[in-house]
Amino acid sequence: MRIAIASDHAGFEQKQALVDYLAQDLGCDVTDFGPDTDDRVDYPDYAEKVAHAVASGDADRGVLVCGTGIGMALAADKVPGVRASSITRPDFADLFRRHNDGNVVCLSGRFVEPEVNREIVKVFLETGFEGGRHADRVGKVMRLDA
Ligand code: RB5
Repeated sequence: MRIAIASDHAGFEQKQALVDYLAQDLGCDVTDFGPDTDDRVDYPDYAEKVAHAVASGDADRGVLVCGTGIGMALAADKVPGVRASSITRPDFADLFRRHNDGNVVCLSGRFVEPEVNREIVKVFLETGFEGGRHADRVGKVMRLDA
């Protein structure tokens, strides 16, 4: 699976670890959109890069890490075709995929432990969309893009 990933300074350390986890443990084709250091940056600039990669089809899924995950989700969701959410629990990652067909997961680098974020990412990548009644609802959500 092709994964686009990025962070801001608050998510940098966990982003770096997740790049390795995605490539080495989960066998993903990872594109790291930065940053390359933990110097202060603005999260919308990095959310935009990953959101466009997913919306264009260059990446299958996106992973974003900031302090809370909230800012990244707010920014990424502005890009048509993106379904992004801040996710802090593995069971929410499961429902985000099964019910919402989420394509960009936004993680907290400051309030969620690395092992929990690894599990969230694993569930996010390995869980399918259920379709059916959820497809109708997601379709209604996506029509709000227009
Ligand atoms: C940066 O201090 C912080 O505001 C950012 O990482 C994120 O949590 C925003 O939602």
